[in-house]
Amino acid sequence: MGYLDLLPGGIRSPALPTGFISLGSIPLSWEATRRLFSLRRPETAQESGFVWRRAARRTSLAPTCRAKSVCVVSGKGGTGKSMIAASLSSLLARRGPTLLLDADLGVGNAHILQGVSPRHTVADVLAGKTELAKALHPCRPNLDLLAGGSGLAHLAHLEGADMDRLSMGLRSVENRYDFMVVDSAAGLSGQTLAFAAACDLILVVTTPAVTALTDAYAFMKVLWSRCPDGRVRLVLNRVQNRDQGIEAAERLCNVTQRFLGQAPECLAYLPEHTSAFEATQERRPLVEDETSNPLVEEMKQLERLVEEQWAASGSRSMAAQLAQHLFA
Ligand SMILES: Nc1ncnc2c1ncn2[C@@H]1O[C@H](COP(=O)(O)OP(=O)(O)OP(=O)(O)O)[C@@H](O)[C@H]1O
Ligand SMILES: [Mg+2]
Repeated sequence: MGYLDLLPGGIRSPALPTGFISLGSIPLSWEATRRLFSLRRPETAQESGFVWRRAARRTSLAPTCRAKSVCVVSGKGGTGKSMIAASLSSLLARRGPTLLLDADLGVGNAHILQGVSPRHTVADVLAGKTELAKALHPCRPNLDLLAGGSGLAHLAHLEGADMDRLSMGLRSVENRYDFMVVDSAAGLSGQTLAFAAACDLILVVTTPAVTALTDAYAFMKVLWSRCPDGRVRLVLNRVQNRDQGIEAAERLCNVTQRFLGQAPECLAYLPEHTSAFEATQERRPLVEDETSNPLVEEMKQLERLVEEQWAASGSRSMAAQLAQHLFA
C-alpha cells in the first residue's frame, strides 16, 4: 500500500478503487461494509472513526492475529522498564519474529538500548510522512523496532485521532509477528494506560524503594479502575537479594489485596547488577552479551515465565484492543 488513511469505517489504499476500504485483507465498498455491520452512515468525520471502532468491536476483524503482547510499565520513572523490554524482546526474537514498540512517544530511548538509529519514528507516522510498516527498523534477526519520538513534548499526550492512526498502522503489521513488547513511558497518561490495557500481559516494574512501590500501587489502581481484567504481573527490579524482593512484593500485594481486591503474582526478582549499566553504556540489550551473570539468568527465567503466562491466556489483536481502550 502506498499510504494508509482513515476513511469512514476502514483503511483506504491507493491500490483499492475510490470508495472501497480494506477490512483485514478483504476489499469492501463502504456501502457493503455499512450493510454488513448494520451501521448507519456516519454524519461527521469524527463520528466515522467511532463507527469503525464499533464495527471492529462487533466482529473479530483480526481472527488470525498471532502476536502475543506484553506491556512493560511502571508508575515511577527509571525503574528499569527499557532495560527489561530490550532484554525480553531480544530473548523472544530467538524464538520468533518480534516487534519492540517504544510507547514512550515523547522521549523514547528503546533505539539507544538496541544500538540503532532508525530513519523514521512514530512521530513521522503520526505526521503522515510515512506508513507504519515503513517506519519499522530491523535491529537484529527477527527483531524490529518502532521507535518513539525524541524530545517531542506534544507526543507525550496524543489526541484520539493520532492514537487511532497508530492503532490502524499496528493492525497492518501485527500479523507479521509472534511477539510484541511495548516499552512504556512512566506514569499514568491515557496513552500508557491504553497500551497496557490493550496487551495480553502487563508487567508492572518496581524497585523495593517505597516511592516506586507507591507509584506501582497507583498505576494498578488506575489501570484496574479502567480495565478490571488487565492481567498484571509484578517484576521486582534492582533487589539487593531475593529476600528483599519477596518482602517488598508482599508489602505491595498486601496493600493491593486490601484496597483493590486483588494481588498480582510476582514473576521475577531481578538483582542489582553492574552489567545493566554496562549494557546501557554499550547501547546493547543486556542479554546480547552471552556472559552469564545472576541478572541475565533471572531475565531468561522471566522470558520463560512470560511465555507460560501467554500460553495460559491466548492472544488478542493488540491494535484492535488499543482502539477499544482509547475510546471506551
Ligand atoms: N537490575 C539492574 N541493576 C543495575 N542497574 C539497573 C538495573 N535495571 C536497570 N538499571 C539501570 O537503571 C537505569 C534506568 O533504567 P531504564 O532506562 O531501563 O529505566 P526506565 O524505567 O525505562 O526509565 P524511564 O522511566 O526514564 O523510561 C539504567 O541506567 C539501567 O542501566
Ligand atoms: Mg524507559
